[in-house]
Amino acid sequence: MGTPHIEAQVGQIAKFVLMPGDPLRAKVMAEKYLTNPKLVNRVRNMFMYTGTYKGVPITIAASGMGNASMGIYSYELFNDYDVDYILRVGTCGAYNKDYRPYSVFNTKDSYGESQFAKIVTRTHQEILPAAKEMFDTIAETAKELNIPLISGRAHASDVFYRSDNSLALAKEKHLDVVEMETYALFANAIKLNKKAAALFTVSDNLVTGEVTTSQERESKFTTMFELALETALK
Ligand code: ADE
Repeated sequence: MGTPHIEAQVGQIAKFVLMPGDPLRAKVMAEKYLTNPKLVNRVRNMFMYTGTYKGVPITIAASGMGNASMGIYSYELFNDYDVDYILRVGTCGAYNKDYRPYSVFNTKDSYGESQFAKIVTRTHQEILPAAKEMFDTIAETAKELNIPLISGRAHASDVFYRSDNSLALAKEKHLDVVEMETYALFANAIKLNKKAAALFTVSDNLVTGEVTTSQERESKFTTMFELALETALK
């Protein structure tokens, strides 16, 4: 028996899940890094693969875009499949002019502008922390692998095409990068007493206008992914 959105059987999802937003990235990364990757979810093409990495069971599961989609999948993974750890691996825009494309960002906490956390946890907090244990393990692992890491606060925006001045908001709320999923992920982890963290590769800079191409992103995404997989072994 699956859930309304995931057809995998209980037991087919590992305790540690890596979550890219893009289903095709989940497929490519599973085929590249996992031994014996098995496709365990195809509902809505939200691909989820379970295999092993250096002998350890890992699931790579797509979240889709936005807090709403992440909110559904992370809830079901934690609650129905008894997942203990979710590490989001995605891309972000930079509000800090010094963040260059392809820098890797470890999320300390997440600012959300919606009612999501209030509705899930019954207490409104506009800023939610990543699991400190995971944040610290990511930082240690990056050091061991000589991967330069920046860290700070993510803006889990609900709107991509905004008409407000998001740089002014970034200044007011001390936001370093923008993406669209961590607020829901962290709210669910807190509600369900589980652990979640998020790593990003910077794909664009909102101050300097620097951008990356999707082709380049495909190959350069690997540094972050290798860091995430090595973190999962700890
Ligand atoms: N993810 C990557 N770049 C982004 C941006 N500029 N806004 C929201 N999410 C993003």
